[in-house]
Amino acid sequence: MVRDGAAAPRPALPAPTNTVVAGGPGRGLAPPPDAGAGTRGRGFLGMDDEALLARMCRAPVERIERNRGGSTVSFRVWLAGGMRALFKPQQRAEVANFRAELAAYRLSRLLEQRRVPPACGRTMPREMLQRAADSSGDTAFSQRVMTELLGRTEEVPGAMLFWVPGQLEPVPGTDRYAQLLDASQPLAPDDVTLAAGLSNLLLFDFLEDNVDRWSGGNILRQHAAPGQPPGEMLFMDNGASFSAINGGLGARPSDQNARLDRVQRFSPTFLRALRRLTAASLQTAMAEDPLGPCLSETQVQAVLTRRDRIVAHADEVAAAHPGGGVFPFP
Ligand SMILES: Nc1ncnc2c1ncn2[C@@H]1O[C@H](COP(=O)(O)OP(=O)(O)O)[C@@H](O)[C@H]1O
Ligand SMILES: [Mg+2]
Repeated sequence: MVRDGAAAPRPALPAPTNTVVAGGPGRGLAPPPDAGAGTRGRGFLGMDDEALLARMCRAPVERIERNRGGSTVSFRVWLAGGMRALFKPQQRAEVANFRAELAAYRLSRLLEQRRVPPACGRTMPREMLQRAADSSGDTAFSQRVMTELLGRTEEVPGAMLFWVPGQLEPVPGTDRYAQLLDASQPLAPDDVTLAAGLSNLLLFDFLEDNVDRWSGGNILRQHAAPGQPPGEMLFMDNGASFSAINGGLGARPSDQNARLDRVQRFSPTFLRALRRLTAASLQTAMAEDPLGPCLSETQVQAVLTRRDRIVAHADEVAAAHPGGGVFPFP
């Protein structure tokens, strides 16, 4: 159930252009100053998720623009205090379920993965979104905002996602996943990090039933400055997840099963976290969003059904490879 208006104080309306009063270009790349202090490794990109969420859920919106680079309707947001976000409103497209974005974040956090950008359920005035769309100069986008956004009131619910700072780039080599995760093939030391990221990504996607990971452009990382190591693989764009159909086994069970079968190398830490999931732990995590539970009971049960399938698969693979090589990742 959507509880409109449950989240944040209503932000001030923007000026009638896509650049709004107190903010402006150049501001807002930085996370809050308290977000990283003494907390490296604790949350998303080493930041403190709670400090990020406190701003994302409540800070007034200073400026908003249409987002580019995706196929669904989303907006770039500049929040008071110098934080950026992406707002994915409730909309018709099934691959853009804002509750799935919220649930993916909560699930990643529960599993101590921290690869999904922090996300907070929040409402935005429809008029503000429409004005940002109208001032984008793109009449087709403007029309989409008018016709595709859902919600009965003047407040449109959606997911406010922490904006990953800097440039994003596709992670190279992801199409080699089947070979990298084949326990009968050698794994080069240079490929271990990529293979570990892919193993966790594929298991995470099976768990949440993300049917839109491999359509292109959805496996990203931060572009590194010269001389710096590449950023870690991020699990972004989870809007096409959490079906509860086919007895919990997902919207496209044969595709998803085929991908799961390819995973023959695992992180024991991740498997332990998966085994620990319960209906209660999932429900508690999902209820932490300010808009209320982001998964239904049926969806929670479907996650557990898919979890059971993952651990059974991992046990089978381990039994079939008594010589080892199945757990090369931390
Ligand atoms: N949290 C984020 N931080 C930075 N950029 C983002 C974020 N979320 C999305 N983007 C950018 O917006 C693009 C579209 O977002 P995405 O979630 O993939 O939506 P779609 O469902 O339309 O594909 C992404 O490819 C990425 O470039
Ligand atoms: Mg995308």
